[in-house]
Amino acid sequence: MPNLTNKQILLGVTGSIASYKAADLASKLTQAGAKVDVILTSAAQKFITPLTFQSVTGCKAYTDKDLWGDEGHVLHVQLGKGADLIVIAPCTANTMAKLAHGFSDDLLTVTYLASTADVLIAPAMDGGMFDNPATQGNLSTLLSRGVMVAGPATGHLASGLSGKGRMLEPIEILGHIRIALGKHGKLKNKKVVVTAGGTQESIDPVRIITNHSSGKQGYALAQAAIDVGADVTLITTPTTLTPPVGAKVVNVKSVQDMLDALLNESADALIMTAAVADFRPKHVAKDKIKKRDGIPQIELEVAPDILKTVSSIKSEKKRYKVVVGFAAESQDLLENASDKLKSKGLDFIAANDISSKDAGFAVDTNRITLLFANGSKESLPLMSKTEAAEKIIEHVARLLE
Ligand code: PMT
Repeated sequence: MPNLTNKQILLGVTGSIASYKAADLASKLTQAGAKVDVILTSAAQKFITPLTFQSVTGCKAYTDKDLWGDEGHVLHVQLGKGADLIVIAPCTANTMAKLAHGFSDDLLTVTYLASTADVLIAPAMDGGMFDNPATQGNLSTLLSRGVMVAGPATGHLASGLSGKGRMLEPIEILGHIRIALGKHGKLKNKKVVVTAGGTQESIDPVRIITNHSSGKQGYALAQAAIDVGADVTLITTPTTLTPPVGAKVVNVKSVQDMLDALLNESADALIMTAAVADFRPKHVAKDKIKKRDGIPQIELEVAPDILKTVSSIKSEKKRYKVVVGFAAESQDLLENASDKLKSKGLDFIAANDISSKDAGFAVDTNRITLLFANGSKESLPLMSKTEAAEKIIEHVARLLE
């Protein structure tokens, strides 16, 4: 769950069956710490009540009655002014048309027109309505004015048909909200590449050599970078995790795949969180090694050192301006991490004590010490991988300033 404390979201809900999902979205935003003001159009109230939203947000949910009520003369200005972001989910074809053409005949559209806040819409309608040139024209107009658009997805529609027009799931919209809220952040216009997971080296078509990395720390870093406006590429080995919304995902397996992927990219920063093999089988058996042939002798060779390769290129071509490594150590943590900082040519390294159960591989928490190329050091207490990621991203942003 993101931390949206101190964020104020104005959620507009329009007349679509998908409005029931908006209640879940409002609940998720509230649980994340945001203050959520809701405006329902009159068509939305045919599907869902203001009370539903008031119950999950703890705040008043507004309707057109409020536009004509006592505080009506300032309400739309006040709601729009206070908002960090206006989210309209679901957004019908009708509301899209009103937004595109400046109609302001209800509380939601008059608030939209009066506000200077960023706007994100999540369209929801039948596929034919979405494809209609009128809707597509309105969509282009809104995009050209900087309105952000999340979805719609392709799939089952309320009409019984299948097509493009389904509102995204609340968790996906939440991901788009994070992008929208972060877009003016410290890493705005910066590109960050993050690697995550444990590499897999094949022994034969069935068996691999890998490690215990779950990808959690790397995925948290990708999300933390997106939260402050970075354009993120996540180079990941197979994991059970869902990549953050907005990350460009490159799927890899072996050290060589990861190295090739990194040499295809260039960015302001590279964060090498992945647990990468130091050794790999010298020969990969073409067919499955049979048990009946006895215990196999597997000869290993040294795998390429990705960071060393990339850092050496950095000095020539500035492929990555800031390079961050991790060191997973079970003994002599700081000495070993310091050696890696120097030998791999890093700007800083996160030394990970994997001897304790609550830090390192697969758990949700981490305890890291940051060692910097200038000799300074910052020891961080046990914290969630999300918090650790935010700390690392703060330093990346500082170094890029
Ligand atoms: O994925 P999680 O379950 O959340 O766990 C997170 C983590 C423990 C994997 C992560 O926090 C971590 O410590 N990652 C680095 C693990 C590791 O491989 O450390 P290392 O000391 O072996 O390597 C040092 C650095 O060199 C690392 O940045 C590594 O990516 C890089 N490396 C290693 C080997 C190699 N052949 N090429 C490399 O570039």
